[in-house]
Amino acid sequence: MNTKLPKLEPITSEWMFKFINNYELQESLFKSYESPINIHSLDAFSRNIKEYQEILATYNFNSKIFFARKANKFQNLITAAVANGIGVDTASYEELKQCIDLQVSSDKLISTAAIKSRKLLELAIKNKVLLVIDNQDELDQVAQIAREYNIKAKIGIRISGFYYEGNKLLSRFGFDIDDIENLLQNYFTEANEHLFNIEGFHFHLDGYSTSQRGESIHQTLDLIENLNSSKTSFKFIDIGGGILMNYLRHQNEWNLFKTELQDAVLENREPLTYNNDGLGYTNRNGQIEGDLATYPYYNENSKASFLKEILDTTNDSSKAVYQRLEQLNIELRLEPGRSLLNQVGITAARVAHRKVDARGNHLIGLEMNMSQMKSSSADFLLDPFVSYNNPIKEAEPVEVYFTGAYCLERDILLKRKIELPQLPEIGDTIIFVNTAGYMMHFFETEAHLFKRAQNLSVLGRKEHYTFDDFKTE
Ligand SMILES: Cc1ncc(COP(=O)(O)O)c(C=O)c1O
Repeated sequence: MNTKLPKLEPITSEWMFKFINNYELQESLFKSYESPINIHSLDAFSRNIKEYQEILATYNFNSKIFFARKANKFQNLITAAVANGIGVDTASYEELKQCIDLQVSSDKLISTAAIKSRKLLELAIKNKVLLVIDNQDELDQVAQIAREYNIKAKIGIRISGFYYEGNKLLSRFGFDIDDIENLLQNYFTEANEHLFNIEGFHFHLDGYSTSQRGESIHQTLDLIENLNSSKTSFKFIDIGGGILMNYLRHQNEWNLFKTELQDAVLENREPLTYNNDGLGYTNRNGQIEGDLATYPYYNENSKASFLKEILDTTNDSSKAVYQRLEQLNIELRLEPGRSLLNQVGITAARVAHRKVDARGNHLIGLEMNMSQMKSSSADFLLDPFVSYNNPIKEAEPVEVYFTGAYCLERDILLKRKIELPQLPEIGDTIIFVNTAGYMMHFFETEAHLFKRAQNLSVLGRKEHYTFDDFKTE
């Protein structure tokens, strides 16, 4: 039976290696900030922004980028986003309030919160921040507040229900595209004109299809073409986020991992995950059922090339998205979260203990918990790094699982079994790379009164980093 564990080597930046290879620096940071710590490179963030800015500058239509702040809670990214000329997409009262307190100007802010309390609506309207409206109740409240304070509210309308290959792309969010003309006729009347400035349309699609996104833009442009002939004048289409990024170095490793995982689920090889978790695959009478329920960590088509594919999508008249945006003078807005955080963050944790369980598994207990590296993905499929205080040249490799501090059997930090060159010791550092997008923050909780991890940023590219290069909020 095959027992070899497949590898998944992550794309890892120079700044990360400088941290990984400096045990002394890790120790000094843990001493002050405890374990785990999240480190963010603001240079990497700027480079990602520039990549989008450069590709958009090659087109003749107008565009704006808003960083989807929900993907990471670290405040220093807000100032970095604004310093690099982009705006911020906020998803809650707190996110919006923080940006306003940081003096981010209103034209650089939008609110796409899924649930908007009256407090949030008031904050946005009073500060002239564009609200992306999801439903009729929100509209009614916006009208009420606008009337009460005599301020014209800036809004965009979120739509869904686009047609794709004969089916509707259904969503819990937004107004159905088929209801928009009615809504506008009935609601945006002359009597209501003083209450709203309706500036554009918004959507965010689940999944990572470029052709669905391209098609949806075309359908929104068709809608605008119909509507702009009347009194309203729509200026933008905001296509949300969901632009793919690539985490892994080798496509063959990614493909091998998937087939080996299926083999393990079918019990044709030794398990490569804790309790032989199929991460979405199941064994039904000797056949694989289901799909891998993780992020697609390997992608040839990512960021700029993904965006280009959307913009090149043609309609029935062979007009590409980019041509129609230019012709109709419609601004394209993007809200990337994850892909702007590519190579931006790492999470480092100290080893607290080692043990061997009754099944013979080596369990490495880390001073962190499962909520500090968790997204909606079934597992984070990147090999971690170990920084050994006492590296031993002739050490025996060892296969391990990493366990976390919550009192739950399922607090297994990576479900994958990992081969390490040497058994870690207490105080060694385990480093997970590329965790800034969703992984480090999205589900972080404070069960057992554990404090949240400290977030640090590092600015500038240096040969050798020292303690003072790392800044808190
Ligand atoms: C409305 C909206 N905009 C932007 C994003 C960011 O998406 P991503 O981080 O995949 O780029 C999301 C993510 O869920 C979203 O719901």
